Amino acid sequence: MLEIRDVTISYHGMPTVTDFSLSLEQGQIFSLVGESGSGKTTVIRAVLGLLAGGGKVTKGDILFEGNSLLGNTSEQWRALRGRDISMIFQDSGAMMNPTKRIGSVFVEYIRTHEKNISKKEAWNKGIMMLERMRLANGDNIMRSYPFQLSGGMRQRVGIALAMTYQPKLLLADEPTSALDVTTQAQIVRQMMELRDEYGTSIIMVTHNLGVAAYMSDYIVVMKDGKIEDEGNRDVMIMEPDNSYTKSLLAAVPSLGGVRYV
Ligand SMILES: Nc1ncnc2c1ncn2[C@@H]1O[C@H](COP(=O)(O)OP(=O)(O)OP(=O)(O)O)[C@@H](O)[C@H]1O
Ligand SMILES: [Mg+2]
Repeated sequence: MLEIRDVTISYHGMPTVTDFSLSLEQGQIFSLVGESGSGKTTVIRAVLGLLAGGGKVTKGDILFEGNSLLGNTSEQWRALRGRDISMIFQDSGAMMNPTKRIGSVFVEYIRTHEKNISKKEAWNKGIMMLERMRLANGDNIMRSYPFQLSGGMRQRVGIALAMTYQPKLLLADEPTSALDVTTQAQIVRQMMELRDEYGTSIIMVTHNLGVAAYMSDYIVVMKDGKIEDEGNRDVMIMEPDNSYTKSLLAAVPSLGGVRYV
């Protein structure tokens, strides 16, 4: 469903990510792991046509359901983003406008995608999505400002928004790294349920190989803008032969005496 073919991405003419390829099928969960600055965010932003700072795909192609995304018009992007392809940002709380209640963000979002829906219907749809993310008392949350919610709640609101239209592809940029371990685990499980329920394909960006091992089918390790190692989860975790992957594995912390992998 998504094919990244031998892509090079440059900022101001300087290649940052080089010769990157990846092929994702429906219902698969991939993790993109690697140290800070290795190019993980750059890759998923390129998929959604949202490269910051003058970033451009300068070589290769990105295909979604067989169609190249690189030549998309802004009209085509509008139809795709938030619909077929959604993104969860690292800290949904920070991405939210602090002066807007959750409900007005939701209603506005839904009404940009469904022109004929009333405010009331959009409100109810928002509550339904919040409840699906196990946020009880959705009405109350809709009336809250972001700062009134905990980090875990805000992140769930972000995921609920991203999931409103049951995207075929969900791009998640470190969606749990700002959260405590228990909340992380809950959110990771909820994302896996989305895959099970809707067949959503997911690319999960994380620096935590433990999270990658827990939730993904396939792991891609990046280093300095290149794919350093990749493979099916079990092989990568149980029998890694790349020394960099081994060093990442050795760095996975143990939780309560039990290693997370
Ligand atoms: N807006 C930008 N303008 C110029 N260069 C950028 C920009 N964003 C990223 N880069 C370049 O791309 C490299 C990779 O950045 P990227 O954000 O993709 O890394 P990352 O793997 O997501 O790191 P992190 O784990 O810290 O989020 C950076 O080291 C930087 O050189
Ligand atoms: Mg990043």
